[in-house]
Amino acid sequence: MLLHKLVPLLFSLAGLTYSAPLTCEQLSQPTEQVDLSRLEGTWVLVAGTYLPFQDRFRHRDSAFINFPANKSVTNISYSRGFSIGDKCVYGSANITLNGSNFTFDGTPASNLSGVFLFLTSCPDCLIMSFNAKSGRQRTHLLFSQRRELEQHQIQEFNEQVQCLQMPPPTIMDPTKNLCPWPQEASTGPD
Ligand SMILES: *[C@@H]1O[C@H](CO)[C@@H](O)[C@H](O)[C@H]1NC(C)=O
Ligand SMILES: *[C@@H]1O[C@H](CO)[C@@H](O)[C@H](O)[C@H]1NC(C)=O
Ligand SMILES: *[C@@H]1O[C@H](CO)[C@@H](O)[C@H](O)[C@H]1NC(C)=O
Ligand SMILES: *[C@@H]1O[C@H](CO)[C@@H](O)[C@H](O)[C@H]1NC(C)=O
Ligand SMILES: *[C@@H]1O[C@H](CO)[C@@H](O)[C@H](O)[C@H]1NC(C)=O
Ligand SMILES: *[C@@H]1O[C@H](CO)[C@@H](O)[C@H](O)[C@H]1NC(C)=O
Repeated sequence: MLLHKLVPLLFSLAGLTYSAPLTCEQLSQPTEQVDLSRLEGTWVLVAGTYLPFQDRFRHRDSAFINFPANKSVTNISYSRGFSIGDKCVYGSANITLNGSNFTFDGTPASNLSGVFLFLTSCPDCLIMSFNAKSGRQRTHLLFSQRRELEQHQIQEFNEQVQCLQMPPPTIMDPTKNLCPWPQEASTGPD
């Protein structure tokens, strides 16, 4: 709802990129309230920085997440599937949403909190950014409905990662197979 009001603003911000680069603040401005209908569906991982597991992350061939239609405005679950070599690994997570902030339910995952962000230059992109309270884990992931983005969209994401003082993201290979969606929804973390 609020997002609809934001759209003209986002487009004007996107227009601004040609004259002046976005500031770090503009690049990582969360929306006040995530529009849950916008989360719904399947998103493919395009790029990401995943500390301290960047090496492991780099060896994933592809990954996707899926948000079902929301049953609640605060308690959200999502499924994920990623492929490593010829293996597919599935999991799911429950999160509690507050505005655009979220926390993972259950321990020790509850030590992770995050925020949903959008890219001004990319209407079909979704960013999940989360940190462990301990500061040991910092993750900034770019998903899209497309497997490959335009260079300026990747560039905006790179700038966002740089603003967060994280190492450059790994860009996923869009030609790698995606895991098939399993018939039965899998449960349990990883
Ligand atoms: C799903 O989210 C929308 C807003 O994003 C809300 O209006 C609706 O009530 C939610 N559905 C349920 C069952 O909570
Ligand atoms: C929603 O999440 C909160 C906090 O994690 C939890 O206390 C509550 O029981 C959950 N509600 C449902 C319906 O799962
Ligand atoms: C998510 O919540 C559902 C229902 O509350 C529960 O059955 C499931 O085990 C939870 N999944 C995880 C990964 O915590
Ligand atoms: C959501 O966050 C705000 C501000 O951080 C806080 O005041 C509010 O209590 C939180 N709501 C829930 C349901 O946790
Ligand atoms: C989301 O988290 C940020 C930083 O942790 C905080 O400043 C903001 O008030 C939170 N927003 C809500 C709606 O809880
Ligand atoms: C999560 O936080 C709790 C208490 O704050 C702590 O005891 C636990 O060790 C933490 N777990 C991880 C994985 O950091």
